[in-house]
Amino acid sequence: MTISIIGAGYVGLITAACLARVGHRILCVEKNPSRLAILEKGQSPIYEKGLDEVLSEVFSQGTLRFTSSIEEASEHSDVIFLCVGTPSLPNGDVDLSQVEDAAISIARCSQTTKIIVSKSTVPVGTAHHLSQLMRRHSPHDLEFTLASNPEFLKEGVALEDFMHPDRIVVGCDQNQWRTLFEEIYQSWIKEGFPLLFTDTISAELIKYASNSFLATKISFINMISDIAENAGGRISDIALGMGLDPRIGRLFLQAGLGYGGSCFPKDIKGLMQTARNFGVKTELLEAVEHINADRIKHILHRVQKALGSFLGKKICLWGLSFKEGTNDIRDAASLTLVSHLLEEGAILKVYDPQAMPDFMEIFPPSERLSYAQSAQDALLDADALLIVTAWQEFKDFSPHRIKESLRNPLVIDGRNCLHENQVHQAGLSYIKIGEKSPRSHS
Ligand code: UDX
Repeated sequence: MTISIIGAGYVGLITAACLARVGHRILCVEKNPSRLAILEKGQSPIYEKGLDEVLSEVFSQGTLRFTSSIEEASEHSDVIFLCVGTPSLPNGDVDLSQVEDAAISIARCSQTTKIIVSKSTVPVGTAHHLSQLMRRHSPHDLEFTLASNPEFLKEGVALEDFMHPDRIVVGCDQNQWRTLFEEIYQSWIKEGFPLLFTDTISAELIKYASNSFLATKISFINMISDIAENAGGRISDIALGMGLDPRIGRLFLQAGLGYGGSCFPKDIKGLMQTARNFGVKTELLEAVEHINADRIKHILHRVQKALGSFLGKKICLWGLSFKEGTNDIRDAASLTLVSHLLEEGAILKVYDPQAMPDFMEIFPPSERLSYAQSAQDALLDADALLIVTAWQEFKDFSPHRIKESLRNPLVIDGRNCLHENQVHQAGLSYIKIGEKSPRSHS
C-alpha cells in the first residue's frame, strides 16, 4: 500500500520505518529543514536502538522517502497518518495546534477524500472535531474519515514494541474501513497480534487511560517506597510480592525518581482536561502527579541529610535522559535535580552516554557544572555519586572502581540499579530508594 505520514518525530519516524520495512511505500513529511536534511541521507535525527539500521535498509529498498510538502503527501496516498506533537500548554491543556494545522493543510490541498489516521495522542472527541474542521477548510467540500490508531511504543525499545505489539487499537466510526486497516497491519495479523476495532472515542481514551494507569502504578509504588523507607522493609521485595499476583502484574512497579518523558506527564494532564470537560473529578490523577513531583524533593532531602549541606560539595551525576536507552530529556528528573543542586551551591560533574548534547543546550557548562567524558571521569574526587538514569554501563560499573574514584564513598542510587552485595563489599555507603538509609556520612 502507499501511505503518507505527517511528522517525522519519535512516533512518525518509527511508524514510517516499520511500515516501510514490511513493504508499504511510505512518504513522510518533515517540516524542519535541518531534520529533513539528516533524514534524506537515510540517517536518524534521534537516538533509538536499531533505527539507523532499519532506515538504511528501507532506504535501499526504496520503500521510504521524505519530503517537506504536505501537498506531495496528499497526492501520494489516500491514507494519511498524523504523527505530529501534542504538547501541554502552560495551563495543562493539550496544544492541538500542530494537529489542526496539519489537518487543515491536508483539507486545503486534497482533490479527493482521504482517511486520516491519528497516531498523535489527543483528547477525547478530537477525531470528530478534526473531521468538521477539515470539511470547513476543504475547497471541494469533501468529507474526510478520521480514525484513531494510538501508539504504545516505549522509547529505547520502540522498534521492538512496534514490530511486536501487545495489541493494535483502531478506532473508526465507519465499519467499512476495517479491511483497510487489516491490509495495513497484515504482517502483524499474520503473526497473531490482536487488532482491536473500536469507535474513535474509545480508542482515544484507551491511549490516555493506559498511560495514566501506568503512571498511577509508578506513583503508587513510590508511595509504598516512602513508607518502607521509614518503616523498614525492602521495596524490591515488596514490589515482587505484589507483582506476583497476576491481577497486579510485575511491570511498572520499579520505585525510583518518578516518571518523566514525553508521554506520562503530558497524558496525565490530557486525561485531567478530558475529565474536567465532562464534569468528572480528577483527584486520583492529581495525587499521581503530586507524588511524582515530590520524588525529587524527597531524594534531595536524603542526599542533603547524608552530606550535611550541598554548599561546595562535589556531586557526580550519572544519567540525564528520562530513562535508559534514549537521549530524550523531556521532563527528565535530571532537569529539576540539576537546577536545585546548582541553586543550593553544589559543584556538579555529570555524565550521560547519549543525552549530554541536548542537556548542554539547557544547562551550558559553567564553573559549577561540567560534563565528563566518561562515567569514570565524572566520579573523580566527588563527595557523592547520584544515579539518575539506569543505563546498563552504570549497572556494569565496578563498585570497587567507584570506591577508588570518589573522595567520599557515598552512593545514592535513584533507580536502585546497582548490585547491592557488590556495593557493600566494596565498602561504599549506599542509599537506596525504598530502604532506610545507612548511618549518615559527611
Ligand atoms: C510510555 C509508555 O510506556 C508507552 O506505552 C507510550 O506509548 C509512551 O509512554 P516511555 O515514555 O517511552 O513510554 O517510557 P516508559 O518505559 O513507559 O517509562 C516512562 C517513565 O516511567 C520513565 O521515566 C521511567 O524511568 C519511569 N518508570 C517506568 C518508573 O519510574 N518505574 C517503572 O516501573 C517503569
